This record gives sequence, structure tokens and C-alpha cells, in this order.
Amino acid sequence: MSVLRQRTAAPSSEVSLHSPAVSSKPEWLDSVIVGDCVAALERLPKASVDLIFADPPYNLQLGGDLTRPDQSKVDAVDDDWDRFDSFEAYDAFTRAWLLACRRVLKPTGTMWVIGSYHNIFRVGSIMQDLGFWVLNDIIWRKANPMPNFKGKRFTNAHETLIWASRDREAKGITFNYEAMKAFNDDLQMRSDWLLPICTGGERLKNAEGDKVHPTQKPEALLWRVLMSSSKPDDVVLDPFLGTGTSAAVAKRLGRHFVGVERDSTYADFARARIASVERAPDDGLAVVTPKRAEPRIPFGSLIEAGMIRPGDKLCDARRRHVATVRADGSIASGAIAGSIHKVGASVQGLEACNGWTYWHVESGGALVLIDELRGRIRGELAAAGA
Ligand SMILES: C[S@@+](CC[C@H](N)C(=O)[O-])C[C@H]1O[C@@H](n2cnc3c(N)ncnc32)[C@H](O)[C@@H]1O
Repeated sequence: MSVLRQRTAAPSSEVSLHSPAVSSKPEWLDSVIVGDCVAALERLPKASVDLIFADPPYNLQLGGDLTRPDQSKVDAVDDDWDRFDSFEAYDAFTRAWLLACRRVLKPTGTMWVIGSYHNIFRVGSIMQDLGFWVLNDIIWRKANPMPNFKGKRFTNAHETLIWASRDREAKGITFNYEAMKAFNDDLQMRSDWLLPICTGGERLKNAEGDKVHPTQKPEALLWRVLMSSSKPDDVVLDPFLGTGTSAAVAKRLGRHFVGVERDSTYADFARARIASVERAPDDGLAVVTPKRAEPRIPFGSLIEAGMIRPGDKLCDARRRHVATVRADGSIASGAIAGSIHKVGASVQGLEACNGWTYWHVESGGALVLIDELRGRIRGELAAAGA
């Protein structure tokens, strides 16, 4: 058996997913816009963003102060931005910002909306009325929820995220299935996510040591959202930016962002926070891709590339069966000749066999799976941008 000619290559299963760089950067890109999101989005070009994360007002409708059993005041969401006169007013507002989002979303783009029982059903229903197509709802189960102080209802321990495409026929949307599985120790990522609420050093505080914002979301939540449904260099829009959680994570993950926030104090904190974040290096942003998305490499390519030569021997991992490589990319074992798959199946008396994961070549006294050689070619193609 011949010694393989060594080829330098990237790991076989990791491919950078960069989309073409944004050539001349529009001024709204990677910026925080202060103002009403409906008006601000009207000034963005149509179909200009890849992903939207929206954390709209909840319309909590709190009647008076919420207190603990010791009568201390609970730091609940009672801000003006969360006040609406009626469900009708909330629905009209929801319809307006959803329509504005739909206009700027690319046909291949998707949108996430997070909410609680107070608003998420209304928002979801309006999304469907406007043509959005719900792909999943995710339950964010809070590891450390606020108790139900009055003891009159269940502890409200989760929020719901709706993930939707622009319409039912949407094609080419990003879902990094393999990456999420790898992230989750090789288990398929489920739709219930257990994550703590935003506390500790991540929570923005003002000079007096008070929370800057009542509903700052944890970065871990945005990490999953962006990792699962966007690619490096994608544009991520957040129409209700608050403290800039989505934009900070987008920047760290090498995505572009644009955020709209009507409160200038929140916007200032968001800008400072985003400026303090560093983009991860390119090689840290590559994700695992599905095998089917990788270019097809026939066995003959290994011969063309000089990795295996006609006359070389292939064998299985326990060296029970041996086959000779032929110049046309077929192999022969005794009287059986054909593809690596057909001969692999025949020598084992099986109906079918994946030859790539059955046959090995010898290199420096060790057996190397031919699938590994195929991976090297794929790595080189990816490095060349093919
Ligand atoms: C639920 S909070 C978002 C919190 C954010 N996800 C974070 O992690 O900090 C909603 C934000 O939307 C802002 N807001 C409300 N109405 C708005 C509007 N019409 N246009 C832009 N921002 C708005 C509020 O000021 C508030 O900061």
C-alpha cells in the first residue's frame, strides 16, 4: 500500500458560512436609531434585513403598585412605554410595527418575537393575519423566576418566543440545525430552553446602582436565537432595542445590527454596551454544516487528487476484506468489482454499505478512513470559497 501524499486542509466538518461582505456600508447599518420604530423602519430599504428579534411592550396593564408580603414595592414593569389604553390600541400598534418589519425583512429572512401571556397570543394572531408563517414557538423557562407574591396564581416562570418566516412559501431560510445539535452535546435542540433571567454583571446599572431597564433580556437567550437562525455578516434588526442585548450579541457573533429605541437614555446605554463588545474571530464563527449541504465528492476525486493511486489497496477497519483501487474510480475484491459502496456491501453479504465509512487506506502504518480524505478535499474547496 502506498503512503498517502499529505495535503494540508481545514477540519472536514467546519465550513465558514460568510455571506458576501456588505460593500459600501449604509449609515443605518451597525447603528442605534433613536425614535419610534414604525417611522424609523419606513426609512430603511425594503428587504434589507436577514433576521428580526422583537421584544415589544408587554401591555402588562398593571393596576397600581405590586407589593411583596412585607409591603415592599416590587420592581415591576410600570413604565410609560408599556401603557396602552385598550386591547384595540395595543393591536393597532402591533399591526403597525409588524407591517413595518415585514417590509424590511428579506424573503429568506425570519423573525422572532418574545412576549408573555399578556401579549403573545394577540401578537401571534396578528402575525398570522399579516401572512407570517409560524415555524416554532419556544418556551424560555426561567431558572430563577420572580415568585407570585400574592400567592393567588401559578408562578409565571416562562416567556414565549414565536419564530416565523415572512410567509408560508419562504425558501432558503437559515436554520443551523447541526450547529444547534453540536451546541447541545449532539442532542437535537428542543423548543424548551431553560435559562436564567438577566442578573449579575450582565445587568446594566446606572450611576446610582439601579437597574437601567426593567426587562433586559439575558445574552444567552439571544445567543441561541442568533446562532440558530442567522449567519455571520447577516443583518439583525431589533425594533425595540432597550439596552441593546440583541445588538451586543450580534456584534460578538460577527453579524451586523440595526436597533431602534425610542428612549434616548436606553439608547445611550445600548451604544456604550455595544461599543464594549468585541467581534469573535472568523475561525471561531464557523458552524458545523449538514453533510447534504457539502459539495458531492466522488471517490474518483481522491485518485485525481493523488491521495490514492491506481493499484493501492483498501481494507475494512479489521483488515478482513481487501480491494484494489482502479484508475476509473472503481475497486475490485476477488471477482467482485464496482463502486466503493457496491463492493463494500458484497464482501459483507449486505444489501447496502456506505463505502466512505467502510474502506480505509494505510498511511504510515495506520489506517485512514477514506471519508477523512474526502473531508480534506471539502476543506480545501471551502477554503477556496467554492
Ligand atoms: C421589552 S423592552 C426591550 C428590552 C430589550 N430586549 C433588552 O434586552 O434590553 C421594550 C423597549 O421598547 C421600547 N419602545 C416601546 N415602544 C417603542 C416604539 N414605538 N419604538 C421604539 N421603541 C419602543 C421601550 O422604550 C423599551 O425599551
